[in-house]
Amino acid sequence: MNVVFAVSELEGLIKTGGLADVARALPLALQDLGQDARVALPYYQVVAEQLPSAAANHSFNFSLHSHTEYKITVHEFNVNDITVYCFDVHGMFNRAGVYGDTYHPYEDNGERFSVFSLAILNFFQYFAEQINFKPEIFHCNDWHTSVLPALIKIDSYWRDSHVKTILSIHNGAYQGIYAKQQLPTLVQRFPSDMFHNDSDHVNFIELGINYSDKIIAVSPNYAQELLTPLGSHHLFDVFNANRDKVTGILNGCDYEDWSSSNDPYLIKNYTVDSIADKVENKLWLQKECGFTPSKDTPLISMVCRLTDQKGLNFLLPIIKQLMLHKVHIAIAGTGDPVYVDQLCKLAKQYTDKLHFEHGYSDKIAHTYIAGADFFLVPSLFEPCGLTQMYSLAYGTLPIVREVGGLKDTVSDLYDINATGVVFVEPNPEALLAAIRKGLLTFHEYPEQFVDIQVRAMNSKFLWLESAQKYLEQYEQLFA
Ligand code: ADP
Ligand code: GLC
Repeated sequence: MNVVFAVSELEGLIKTGGLADVARALPLALQDLGQDARVALPYYQVVAEQLPSAAANHSFNFSLHSHTEYKITVHEFNVNDITVYCFDVHGMFNRAGVYGDTYHPYEDNGERFSVFSLAILNFFQYFAEQINFKPEIFHCNDWHTSVLPALIKIDSYWRDSHVKTILSIHNGAYQGIYAKQQLPTLVQRFPSDMFHNDSDHVNFIELGINYSDKIIAVSPNYAQELLTPLGSHHLFDVFNANRDKVTGILNGCDYEDWSSSNDPYLIKNYTVDSIADKVENKLWLQKECGFTPSKDTPLISMVCRLTDQKGLNFLLPIIKQLMLHKVHIAIAGTGDPVYVDQLCKLAKQYTDKLHFEHGYSDKIAHTYIAGADFFLVPSLFEPCGLTQMYSLAYGTLPIVREVGGLKDTVSDLYDINATGVVFVEPNPEALLAAIRKGLLTFHEYPEQFVDIQVRAMNSKFLWLESAQKYLEQYEQLFA
């Protein structure tokens, strides 16, 4: 199967969250299954800095709207054994930021990603022979490439080509809603009945849901949630009208990247059989955070984008109560300035117990996950979530809310197959009770705690299995 994986992030080159992890792992796993999966990515400035010269360049012009000629150059690279086509679209991605310079998105993101989608279609139409690759599947991801399935419907070449489209929904809360006047390229192309005629706005993800051949949520539980009024991100009617197309496939965990036995970032590597060595990473992290290193003090960490999604509204109100316990808390991340500000203030107030690192790097993610006894993912919603899987792999018990993919991947302490702590209600009290439950087990039942760590480390979410399920979905479209 020839698959174009159209995406806005790619681990190793450009990342703001888990979408990047998937964009690297899934095409590779598809390739391991014998498929030809290639990635289409914008040629952002940060990508150009890392990859200045390509294996091949393909250039063409097209007229988008008002007869303006746009120059497109597609730089072809081999990144980790995957062919990646980086789209330099008339300089539109040649900016300091990816989606925005600060926390605020660029106003023309709708136009940028429309032109990116259109450029993808033009490139694979006109260069198929030259690159010896004819797409059978366009696998789109999130709102950024959601317009592509709709563009296919109005293009006679692609309509006749029998190509199929899949939309993976990694995060339905980001929908790409733009005023029509901000979208000259789409407005000129689309017949008006493709949009809601009564609205001045276009919702990209809604177009993707309506016009793709299949919709894949990134976990089975999230797929179910998308079909409920509460979990559909206000798109209940749209999802329900397309419910036959909706499935859920759980993301995998990249166990090469997340291997406690040979992770170069760790001060001490360990396996299930040498789990006692894990504590060296904790002592290191405690020191790094300015705490007094102590094996007996449980360490809870959290690394995430600082957004409402991640449940900070449940955590911040209970910090004062948590600080009464024998505990260390280490939080790292970037994002909403409101949360950054609050976390900075709290960290100043409780220097010996609470540390906040305003930043993100692979080293932070790996050392915070390896060094902790517990890892917090108390999300309001969580389509899949990857960090709880990374924590499980490192024997760090995730404390999660029972939502989205967290429900599919973590079992509560009181279950026979316990791998972490799970709470249900979306409020601070429920989170506090869950953390206390975890702390109690750590202090009072150390042997059971280790048993749970071992079970966590033995739970596996293989990308190859997820890729196999994607492949079955692709094949169904041609059955
Ligand atoms: P989401 O995609 O919603 O952020 P996931 O758990 O699926 O959540 O994936 C998060 C991924 O992004 C992990 O690899 C994590 O280490 C990384 N990450 C966490 N915070 C940041 C950040 N501020 N910037 C970039 N990547 C981050
Ligand atoms: C999104 C979701 C996250 C998911 C990731 C990768 O950003 O918020 O839950 O794991 O995409 O699919």
